Amino acid sequence: MSTTIHTTGVTVAIDARRLWERHMTMAQIGATPKGGVNRQAFSPEDGRARQLLVAWARELGLTVSLDAVGNLYVRREGSDPTAAPVLTGSHLDSQPTGGKFDGAYGVLAGFEVLEAIQHGGVTTRRPVELVCWSNEEGSRFQPGCMGSSVFTDKRQLSEFLTDTDKDGITVGAALQATLAATPDVAQRALGFEVAAYLEAHIEQGPILEAAGIPIGAVTGVQGSRRYTVEVLGEEAHAGTAPLKTRKDALKAAVAMIHALEATMADETDTVRFTVGRFDVAPGSPNTVPSRAFFTIDFRHPEQEVINRLTGQIEPVCRAHARGCDVIVTRLSDVAPTPFDRAIIQTVRQHAGRLGLQHMDILSGAGHDAMYMATVCPSGMIFIPCTKGISHNETENTRPEDVAAGARVLAECMVDLANR
Ligand code: GLV
Ligand code: MN
Ligand code: MN
Repeated sequence: MSTTIHTTGVTVAIDARRLWERHMTMAQIGATPKGGVNRQAFSPEDGRARQLLVAWARELGLTVSLDAVGNLYVRREGSDPTAAPVLTGSHLDSQPTGGKFDGAYGVLAGFEVLEAIQHGGVTTRRPVELVCWSNEEGSRFQPGCMGSSVFTDKRQLSEFLTDTDKDGITVGAALQATLAATPDVAQRALGFEVAAYLEAHIEQGPILEAAGIPIGAVTGVQGSRRYTVEVLGEEAHAGTAPLKTRKDALKAAVAMIHALEATMADETDTVRFTVGRFDVAPGSPNTVPSRAFFTIDFRHPEQEVINRLTGQIEPVCRAHARGCDVIVTRLSDVAPTPFDRAIIQTVRQHAGRLGLQHMDILSGAGHDAMYMATVCPSGMIFIPCTKGISHNETENTRPEDVAAGARVLAECMVDLANR
């Protein structure tokens, strides 16, 4: 049976080499010795990445704007000046030991779509816009998806402004410095109407690569909750204080994590329980630690399991406090997010029309699309990444997959922009 492959002006205008080279150029900003990037939110590197995107946008004659939380938009007008835009994008901030593609792919693929539309002379009814969301990673400043959660009115910027990073720098100060990196960009109101949102991303897991399938039509995102646990004990002399009288915050925290690990045990390997940060004070070899602090990142596709297992966090920590005080704080709570059925179908259809194999896939990672899904029809396109490795400097993907995802994105965006 022969398959007819449909290509349009916009697919043809996607330039695979230009798109790959843009990734390599962007990855020079915050480049790390192992080939990754350290471009944390609202850092000077984040500012330079934004400057580069603004420069590319202006070369193309596109309009650039910024909102109060630092979300950066690039717009190509449509033929109907009253129509709400269709939006694509992702993030340029990274983990401290991040890769070249997490987030950057969605921004650069979106930019390639704008360039292809522009060069292909394609007219769309709605404006097509690219967004670079602020602080998606939530690694320097918690929680993540700051830009999209504020855009969608799920959080307020004022909640975060006085939060600090490990060095005591506030969100407010770092955000101001980032906004100042692109001083001549017009201001944009938060939360404008969006007709549809579609985000391209590397899968960050092993499924597509193992299946040998280049395109994932993402059906939704599993739910997640993040916590901090602060354990407060008492400093004492390491040589003299009897073990029985100590309030050792570190040993209590270790016991808590060990017990939580057992609570979260899951034969199906669906539960995701991560302690990604652990700090101890005062950090002296011969003083009993008086404070331990750790983070919990919990994820699962089912709300019932999320409720049941995260409901155990505080009781388990208290049961292993060993005389210390415990403060458990929930930082974020995102319900499992199903994406819009029509958007999922649009991704499947255009992948099929382009002769690209595709499969439905649930996202294990969190994305700005889960916030956008609360305000407009939203979805995502995944491409494979090498061995499923992500949040790692060696994160990689293949140029042909990068281009395939951008072609599907281009077709979908033009289609959505004409609805
Ligand atoms: C985003 O990077 C996440 O942690 O899912
Ligand atoms: Mn990402
Ligand atoms: Mn990430």
